[in-house]
Formats: sequence, structure tokens, C-alpha cells
Amino acid sequence: MHKLEVVGAKKLKGQIRISGSKNSSLPILAATLLSSKKIILKNLPKVKDIDTMVDLLCSLGSKINYTRNKLLINNSRQNKKFASYSLVKTMRAGILVLGPLLAKFGSAKVSLPGGCAIGTRPIDIHLKALSKLGVKYKILQGYVYATAPNGLIGNRIRFPKISVGATENLIIASCFAKGKTILSNCAIEPEIDDLVKFLNKMGCKINWLTKRSLQIIGVKNLKDITYSVMFDRIEAGTYLIAAAVTEGHLKLKNVDPNIIKTEINILKKIGSKIRIYKNEVHIYGKAKIKKKNIRTSPYPGFPTDLQAQIMVLLCKANKKSIIKESIFENRFMHVAELNRMGAKISINGNKAYIQGNTNFTAAELMATDLRASVSLILAALCAKGKSVINRIYHLDRGYEDIEKKLKRVGAKIRRLN
Ligand code: EPZ
Repeated sequence: MHKLEVVGAKKLKGQIRISGSKNSSLPILAATLLSSKKIILKNLPKVKDIDTMVDLLCSLGSKINYTRNKLLINNSRQNKKFASYSLVKTMRAGILVLGPLLAKFGSAKVSLPGGCAIGTRPIDIHLKALSKLGVKYKILQGYVYATAPNGLIGNRIRFPKISVGATENLIIASCFAKGKTILSNCAIEPEIDDLVKFLNKMGCKINWLTKRSLQIIGVKNLKDITYSVMFDRIEAGTYLIAAAVTEGHLKLKNVDPNIIKTEINILKKIGSKIRIYKNEVHIYGKAKIKKKNIRTSPYPGFPTDLQAQIMVLLCKANKKSIIKESIFENRFMHVAELNRMGAKISINGNKAYIQGNTNFTAAELMATDLRASVSLILAALCAKGKSVINRIYHLDRGYEDIEKKLKRVGAKIRRLN
């Protein structure tokens, strides 16, 4: 079981190139199932979840090769419609193959993704919306058996609640639906716009009608495509917070500052100095860290995927802060571990009360989920002494070369087998 050893306290200084977005790559990879033409994907991050999605596509019959940082996908003989529990259970985004399989074959058997550390993660919104396109489904022994006896038929669909995955599944499914589909109350995370750009470049007909509604005209033929996925805004936000929390100075490359305006504005209010450039963001962490109450919300609000990380920064603020987690029902798993490092955080329902003025102390720690793991690294970077973080397989799901990137900017960090 891999562990990470981190010796703090270290101010981070230097530059980090931000990798491609995990949460953009996953729906785009699922969407490749629509096409029987040649597909080349670039800038995919080298993280476990991408490997798992590639394994899932190969189990469905895709032919995939990885050469010189490019993924070559050939689905001309892809003919399987069964996505097994063994692959979907480790990576919930596996449910995103449901839409494209239904669009292409009119039937699919996909494992329910099951819950995870941060919540039950249901897919009721996905299924109800797909039934509006003519899909019939039943759930048996942990699998969704779905069919579209007359093919998918375009319709007007309004999501009852904003859901990133449901929006993505329905966009992909609607690409081949007969006629026109209008999706309203869509999630508008940048990764969704990246998916729309990818699909349109492949020959689909999708356009934004309003801030949260999309029109999709069904098509039949697609084209060869080469596409480079966007940068990972959560990785970028994580390293911005790493600089703020260690009073360091980092230059992040391959970042579009316009996409992370909310995060930049909040970090400025907390006290960091930030300079933005066309494809870079430079941050100077300051000793004085001001309190800030934060509520996570769908884009363009503060992302739930940065909640654990900003909590570490607020532990060092001069006064008490409150974080309200409004997306997931159990996303405070990192709090107990942070308190073991000297933080004073209490939880009441979906609110965390953070006392501030914390001097983190090194400890042996346990990671519980992807973003909680990285918050433990941030705290360990500030703590005098040696911390060891266990179960870092959570981390490897979503952060490419994290110890290499941190070591290059002065962190004392190494992986222990
Ligand atoms: C995506 O998950 C991301 N994953 C998550 O990132 C991210 O935290 C989340 O969006 C919110 O931004 C990927 O993109 C692969 P949702 P997703 O559907 O699509 C409830 C990470 O760390 N819901 O927007 O699963 C759900 O339980 C991961 O990279 C239903 O009730 O999120 C949650 O409370 C973690 N029924 C809320 O909606 C449904 O059918 C938002 O979920 C679907 C969702």
C-alpha cells in the first residue's frame, strides 16, 4: 500500500505545469463510443481514473493505443454493451457510458456506480431524463438494463436538480436522438463546455440557447477528430491553495484564469497576491490569512472539489470561518484527520466551523477520498516535522505526478512503498 512522506514546513517556490482535466477527459472518453471514425485525444492526464475508463472502453470492444502522449481510439468494431461492476465500482464516471451505448445500440447493461466516501451518488436524474428520450429501464442485481425499442427520440427535458454527470450523459445520448432535444437547468461546469466542443468538432450539432439550456439536433454521421482536453481547474486551484497555505510563490502554467475567477477572487480576499496572464496565474502567499465564509455550489460558484483544500488554508486564518458544503452529503471526511494535526474544526450538519490560528503538527494520516487526500498533503507541507499519508491510491486517481510537481517547487515529499 503506497504511502507519502512529507516533511514540513516548506515554502513552495517555482513553476508548475497544470495537466489536462480528469473531469473533462472522462465524459469525452465515454463520448468516443458514439463514433466509428478515427479519434486522437491529447493532453489527457496520466491518472488512475483515465486508465480505468480506458479499460472500461476496451472491455466494450474499443481498440485504444497510447503513443507519445496521444490516445488513439478506434471504435469501428466496438460492439459490446455491458459495462461490468468490477470497472464501474472503482470509478463512478463509468455510468457515463450509458448514454452513448443507448445512442449507438439502443440498449445497454451498465453497473450502478454505487456510493463512495463522499455520498450515496445516485443516478435517478440520469435515468429519469433518459426515459424522456424513450428509454425503458429496470434495475436488477445492481445493474441498469436499458433499452430504447424505437431508438432515442428528441424531447424537451428539464433537470430537477443541477447534475454534472446527468447533463453529460444526456448531451451524449441526445447526439443521435431523432429530431431536436432541449436540455434545461443544465450544469455549466467548464468540462461540460469542453465536451460540447469535442462533440461538435466530431460532427454533432449542439448549441447553448441560454446560460443553462442546450439544444441538440440528432445527427447520423461523424468525422475523424483530433482533440486536446482543457486544463484541470481543480488541480490548478489545489496548487494555488498550496502556495497560499505555505506562504510560497508559484507560477502555474497552462491555465485559463477566466475559468477560475471565483477561486482567484476568494484567494485574494483571504489575503494572497495574485497576478493573471493569458495562460498563467502567479500567486504570492502572505503571512496574514483572513477569515472567509464559503459555500460550495455548482459552477460558477466555489467548487466542492476544492472544499477540503480551502479548509486547510482557513485553519490558518486569523479568525473563525464557516464552510457550507451544499453539493455532497458526506464531504467532511478530511476534518478528523486535520484535527489530529492540531486543527480546531467542528461540524454541524453540512457546515464546518473552522477556529483558525492553527499551527499544524505532523502526524500519521489516512486518506479517505481524492480531494481529502490532497488536503492532508497541504496541511503536512505547513506542519513542522514528518507526516506520513496512507491509502494514497485515492490521490493517484486524480493528481498527475503530484510528488514530482511538488518536489520541483521545494517540497520535501517522497513515496514509500
Ligand atoms: C462530478 O460528479 C465530478 N466528477 C465530481 O468530481 C464533482 O464533485 C461533482 O461533479 C460536482 O461538481 C466527474 O466529473 C467525474 P453531480 P457527479 O451529478 O457528476 C446528486 C472529483 O473529485 N445527484 O453534479 O457525480 C449527487 O448525489 C469528483 O473529481 C442525484 O441526486 O456530480 C450530488 O449530491 C468528486 N441524482 C449532486 O447531485 C443524480 O442522478 C451533484 O452531483 C445525480 C446526482
